[in-house]
Amino acid sequence: MSAQLDFLPRFRRMSADDLVAVEAIERTVYTHPWTIGNFTDSMDAGYHCWIMEHDGGVAGYSVVMVAAGEAHLLNLSIAAPLQRQGLGSELLRFVIKLARDYAAQTIYLEVRESNAAGRALYAQHGFAEIGVRRSYYPAGVKREDAVTMEKKLE
Ligand SMILES: CC(C)(COP(=O)(O)OP(=O)(O)OC[C@H]1O[C@@H](n2cnc3c(N)ncnc32)[C@H](O)[C@@H]1OP(=O)(O)O)[C@@H](O)C(=O)NCCC(=O)NCCS
Repeated sequence: MSAQLDFLPRFRRMSADDLVAVEAIERTVYTHPWTIGNFTDSMDAGYHCWIMEHDGGVAGYSVVMVAAGEAHLLNLSIAAPLQRQGLGSELLRFVIKLARDYAAQTIYLEVRESNAAGRALYAQHGFAEIGVRRSYYPAGVKREDAVTMEKKLE
């Protein structure tokens, strides 16, 4: 059973003013974090970049690209101290609604094979594992496979 939130998270569009906080979270939750430039490029490209706020600060964020009836979830992260409280599920529900609102029929994403938390979160929300991209991610001297997941939206 997922944790139930005892507060209502607030969602707002990401802006340049968020990027220091976003990068700080990024560095703590990923071995190979996105840079400020990656987020700036995403906003400039018109991707859907959203902040989830908690207690006036950045609790998490997501980046989604929607085109031609397909949504691609490019980033979804929750600040380390706030994980395992249901926020990831809440943010993912927001992303699924957003994809529907923009007429996507399918959501795709890639997740590191070793990312048990991410894979479990997505599976819990109806994403199916549909393939593997070999050596997709940097991982020290080697590379790591990505699992591709999809969710069909009715
Ligand atoms: C993946 C992530 C977003 C989950 O956020 P979260 O707020 O901790 O998730 P929730 O509390 O809503 O948990 C929802 C479900 O996710 C799964 N989950 C979350 N953390 C987990 C962990 N450490 N181990 C195993 N499963 C986990 C569980 O299925 C959980 O359901 P449960 O509570 O019923 O067991 C968070 O761990 C994170 O930001 N990780 C770093 C960034 C990342 O890997 N993002 C995904 C990359 S594609």
